[in-house]
Amino acid sequence: MSTDRLRNPRLRGRFRRFSGLIVIGLALGLISGIYALATPGRGGTPAAAAPDDVTQGQRLYNQSCISCHGRNLQGVPSQGPTLIGVGGAAVDFQVTTGRMPAPYQGAQVPRRKPLFDDEQARQLAAYVQSIGGGPDIPTGSLADGDLARGGRLFRLNCASCHNFVGEGGPLSSGKYAPALSKATPTQTYEAMLSGPESMPVFGDNQLTPQEKLDIISYVESLKKERDPGGFAIGRVGPVPEGLVIWLVGIGLVLIATLWIGVKA
Ligand code: HEC
Ligand code: HEC
Repeated sequence: MSTDRLRNPRLRGRFRRFSGLIVIGLALGLISGIYALATPGRGGTPAAAAPDDVTQGQRLYNQSCISCHGRNLQGVPSQGPTLIGVGGAAVDFQVTTGRMPAPYQGAQVPRRKPLFDDEQARQLAAYVQSIGGGPDIPTGSLADGDLARGGRLFRLNCASCHNFVGEGGPLSSGKYAPALSKATPTQTYEAMLSGPESMPVFGDNQLTPQEKLDIISYVESLKKERDPGGFAIGRVGPVPEGLVIWLVGIGLVLIATLWIGVKA
């Protein structure tokens, strides 16, 4: 636009209003851009499977696990137990819940942000499975459980430690059963198969595979009931939720400010 035309007061007014809209558009674009960057990619295509999971798993094991579990999974006295026969399910559970690699010696290792991604957990599991066997990572759909039966089985087998609504609770000598709200169906299945820490193993003689699915459907239903209201934002967790509120809030304030500025 030439300066001549901008000297025309009517056109200049229109241009000012127009540029205000551009600024709002840019602000919105920036906000959604930041949000897209800050939101972890979910779904999408999984990483291409490594040519040899066992070899990859062994490499990761030698880097991160060998000091406590030994060169041949035999365990290291006063560092870590043997992993022979614990199976891929135990490894996948421990690694995807961030418990392993343990950050320190001693007390019960809490659930943490995992150090390895799901693909690496699977590779570590494949390696341990290849040496000692044991219950492997469950495959197939875990969504075919019977809710009512699952509720009864949960009260019978799990509620004594995890409480009736899966909130968890203290056990003896400073240990605790954690809340079940963060466990995925796969992790819940694996916990039953492997019995982490002071949790008993629920082999297929204690709970048939179908009964495990029933229990999973009950554990999943508890999560839905405890939705605290408002938009769930895909249950991505408190930090991104805070970010959403922050960005949307700041965005709205920004837009309101610009709007007032344009009108004035
Ligand atoms: C600092 C020492 C340490 C490191 C490093 C470590 N672990 Fe462990 N691990 C332990 C201890 C101690 C336990 C037993 C306590 C527990 O289960 O919470 C354990 C338990 C386990 C179990 C459960 C065994 C069972 O009987 O169910 C698995 C599986 C496991 N570790 C896998 C791994 C893997 C895989 C890595 C590497 C990514 C790793 N650990 C790194 C100390 C360690
Ligand atoms: C004797 C007490 C006890 C019983 C009974 C028990 N658990 Fe556990 N459970 C535990 C403990 C302790 C842990 C924590 C293990 C750790 O920190 O390594 C745990 C962990 C879990 C986890 C992992 C939670 C997370 O977020 O990482 C799930 C899932 C789970 N249990 C499900 C079950 C189900 C399902 C049953 C019934 C079939 C059951 N538990 C029965 C004590 C128990």
